[in-house]
Amino acid sequence: MTQPKRQLHLGAFFFGAGHHLAAWRHPDVDPNGYTQLNTLKEWARLAEAAKFDAIFFADNVGMSQAPADMLTRNALPHVFDPMLVQSALAAVTDRIGLVATVSTTYLPPYHLARKFATLDHLSGGRGGWNLVTSGSEFEAHSFGLPHQIEHAERYKIAHEYMQVVKGLWDSWEDDAFTHDKANNRFFDTTKLHRVAHEGAHFQVSGSLQAPRSPQGYPVFVQAGSSNDGQDLAAASAELVFTAQQTVDDARGFYSSLKSRLPAWGRTESDLKILPGISPFVGRTQQEAQDKFDQLQDLIDPVLGVGLLSAFLGNIDLSAYPIDGPFPVDLPVGEGWKSRHALFNNMAQRDNLSIRDLYKRVATGRGHWTVVGTPESIADQLEHWFTTGAADGFNILSPTLPHGLKDFVDLVIPELQRRGLFRTEYTGRTLREHLGLRRPAHPNAGVNGQ
Ligand SMILES: Cc1cc2nc3c(=O)[nH]c(=O)nc-3n(C[C@H](O)[C@H](O)[C@H](O)COP(=O)(O)O)c2cc1C
Repeated sequence: MTQPKRQLHLGAFFFGAGHHLAAWRHPDVDPNGYTQLNTLKEWARLAEAAKFDAIFFADNVGMSQAPADMLTRNALPHVFDPMLVQSALAAVTDRIGLVATVSTTYLPPYHLARKFATLDHLSGGRGGWNLVTSGSEFEAHSFGLPHQIEHAERYKIAHEYMQVVKGLWDSWEDDAFTHDKANNRFFDTTKLHRVAHEGAHFQVSGSLQAPRSPQGYPVFVQAGSSNDGQDLAAASAELVFTAQQTVDDARGFYSSLKSRLPAWGRTESDLKILPGISPFVGRTQQEAQDKFDQLQDLIDPVLGVGLLSAFLGNIDLSAYPIDGPFPVDLPVGEGWKSRHALFNNMAQRDNLSIRDLYKRVATGRGHWTVVGTPESIADQLEHWFTTGAADGFNILSPTLPHGLKDFVDLVIPELQRRGLFRTEYTGRTLREHLGLRRPAHPNAGVNGQ
């Protein structure tokens, strides 16, 4: 029997008015659109009609404390709670996966387990949790902490958090609710389990009220790419988002992460890796280039420098000449370590000035940028996909919805023509779209099943 052809997985990453730093100033963009439910519904339906695996929302829990004169130049990407947005979108979509970002640093695990169980039920098994540990000082300030918890410690907490959350999601066996009216038994008491967790960071005793969710667990997504981030992903993640600039770097990351799986009793197919891509698509190369240039010309240098500074842990770059070399010897803080390393590598490899670097990363905060025709973009995606660099891609549209529409109308048909992407959904749950198994309940079979 012939194996079905391996196909790409695609995520539609929604981010304010678009991922480009200047997206909100593009003449075609409605800067307020993404705060309207009707607009978000339209975008979700567009992604679903194109058969994306999932819609993805990132998040921060706090408002940057950068100077207001700098902040006012930027659109606010994370105005709403992504869990609530995804719950609203669950009601107006049928098949597409719904991934929301929630940090393990600021929400007690019981709340998180309950919210994602709810999303998974309400959406009929389409929920996914993007586990982040947060990486900004201002987020710590929102919760009364003078500083963020150290990077390594955040990841230790996240490992324990996962244990607790999984335990809570296993509170009920899949067939616990018998609704036996004759004998007056709503559920089978042998199929209710209790978490009794006494750990270094959490003490949780009890069970979740929500029945085990349609997917067993919502899909675990992870986006930290540092060494500690990869270890956490290897332990638990099923979908990994990552920012990689070149196919060689992406292959290195892909093999580094996949090689860690056996140590956790997992196999390569248990985890899918989706690098981000910011695509500028034109019917001709010139049209794509014009779209790219139009947005690049709108970048405000104050904001460009501010973007770098924010990712480097609010390091003040004003002492450095904007057209002088990007200082690659800056101290690495407790924030986003992998992004700091990525920016350093880009600057060193291509000898970039501060201005060059912010222009490179303005398209999608350091994610891979491609400017081309549908064919040339499909060629590049296919190359990454077939040479061990990716299982698919997270699409960071430069503007929303126009950039997404370009990808949907022009690139997806080309991928489909090559047999690289589905033309119809074959499954109903996010796990089924991604080819992931549903986790069995640890007690399945123990109670005579
Ligand atoms: C595609 C992508 C999306 C991310 N989204 C978020 C996010 O929404 N919120 C957040 O706090 N961190 C986000 N991160 C950052 C990581 O999850 C992680 O918290 C951060 O990079 C620091 O970890 P690291 O040093 O292990 O990479 C994202 C990273 C990537 C690659």
